[in-house]
Amino acid sequence: MAIPTKILSPLALILIAAIVLLANCRHDVLQPDPEPPGLPTGASFLEPSAQRSGNAANGYQYLIYGNYVGSGIPFQVFKQFFGSNSPDDLGRTGDADGIPFQYNVVTASNGAKVVAPTCLTCHAEKINGQLIVGLGNNTADYTTNQASTFQTADIAVKFLYGVNSPEWNAYYPASRSAQAIGPYILTQTRGANPADKIFAALSAHRNQVDLAWIDAAQYNIPVEVIPTDVPAWWLMKKKNALYYNGLGRGDFARLSAASGMLTMLDSSEARQVDQKFPDVMEWIRSLEAPAYPFPIDQPLAAQGKVLFERKCAECHGTYGAEETYPNLLIQLSTIRTDSSLANMYQVYPEYHTWYNNSWYAQGTHKAQLLPNNGYVAPPLDGIWATAPYLHNGSVPTIDDLLYSAQRPRFWKRTFNNSDFNQQKMGWNYTVETSKTDINTYDTSLPGYNNGGHTFGDVLTDIERKAVLEYLKTL
Ligand code: HEC
Ligand code: HEC
Repeated sequence: MAIPTKILSPLALILIAAIVLLANCRHDVLQPDPEPPGLPTGASFLEPSAQRSGNAANGYQYLIYGNYVGSGIPFQVFKQFFGSNSPDDLGRTGDADGIPFQYNVVTASNGAKVVAPTCLTCHAEKINGQLIVGLGNNTADYTTNQASTFQTADIAVKFLYGVNSPEWNAYYPASRSAQAIGPYILTQTRGANPADKIFAALSAHRNQVDLAWIDAAQYNIPVEVIPTDVPAWWLMKKKNALYYNGLGRGDFARLSAASGMLTMLDSSEARQVDQKFPDVMEWIRSLEAPAYPFPIDQPLAAQGKVLFERKCAECHGTYGAEETYPNLLIQLSTIRTDSSLANMYQVYPEYHTWYNNSWYAQGTHKAQLLPNNGYVAPPLDGIWATAPYLHNGSVPTIDDLLYSAQRPRFWKRTFNNSDFNQQKMGWNYTVETSKTDINTYDTSLPGYNNGGHTFGDVLTDIERKAVLEYLKTL
């Protein structure tokens, strides 16, 4: 039976919140060193750090079957409400067969079976009808507070099982987290992701040393929610620093395993997850970008390649047989895209300060959050599949990205994953005159600005078409 997505999405949100991504956190604001000669204006090199190796096949199994989030809705309740969607999107067997791909069935530490969200809540998405694990979710709706959904679920689970049951105990941590962070993670537009904020809000409720839950937030959680567009996982293998702002430093497995903060009891659980995550990272490093599925004008693309290498490669690298990727952070004063995400770490140092003194920042495989005054120039592999563009998803197509005067101020898309525009490369959209509903992206909101990155403006129309055609080949 088809899963009613309307009903699902609130739950998804909730749980999601749970999961999270801690990925984003921060630390003392680093002023990048003065540029060595040869780097583009405003660019500084991001140094690599040692990574643990792992087993990619085991990593994928853990990703889709693992219990890195160990709390959620009791399995029987979930099945009752949502039925099952066999054959499973991920080809899973056992209890997880037929559960929406964003979730997994796990046995909580007390033995109760629960349905918990996975990384795929945000890191898998359909395009042209095909599910791609590693493609960032660009459709989820975080515009409404899910706390009340959990309040309702609390009543149901208590009624069905009682507060002394294993089911309640296995469910409660997810509900507690979702209710604590619900009011702090609301975005203005469907598709915009509040993951950075989910982490910031969760860490406020965790003891730095042993990660145990603390009911009262330890610092004031800011009200602003800066929207982000979930990055594609296949880019990670080229990067020396994680996250748009390049603040994720040190051990990437440790950084990514922070999603356990949603529901873990304490650091003893975090330690178990941390041991498995080098495998997950190895699997992510094995991913390749999906090939462009429509025809490409090869002679035009060849012209575009020449232009790209002249105007774009110094920041984004070169592609093909001999790949290069310079790993550059570009200062805000040069890139001039919305500064809110980068600035947030300076205005609110509580988050990254918490992280850099926490369990995650200890030991041989420690991670740190070192914010920067700019954004990473990302690799562009598979860029065709990852609209909307820029870190905040404010630009619907590549054509608009490459011509800043043409970028729409209010735009609306259908959220149908086949509504793809091959000419402009990105989502079909309509230009609106105001924000009419959650599907309208309003670039005048704080954090949602679509300015900056004007490097395509100097191109003629024909040159722009050529560069766009070349980008299809990456
Ligand atoms: C609630 C949505 C959400 C969930 C759940 C989530 N992520 Fe993410 N993830 C994001 C967003 C958004 C970013 C980009 C944040 C930024 O750069 O500021 C991101 C970034 C990342 C990155 C860095 C990518 C890069 O190129 O810099 C990695 C790696 C990653 N996530 C792994 C994971 C793993 C592994 C899990 C599960 C344990 C997970 N994430 C769960 C939303 C999520
Ligand atoms: C000075 C360095 C620099 C140059 C030159 C440059 N870019 Fe970028 N580019 C960036 C940075 C930094 C970002 C990320 C900005 C953000 O998300 O706020 C970016 C983002 C992008 C994105 C969006 C990526 C995504 O996933 O949303 C595309 C596409 C892109 N650039 C293409 C180009 C093309 C094509 C050119 C040449 C015409 C070019 N860039 C020139 C630094 C540069």
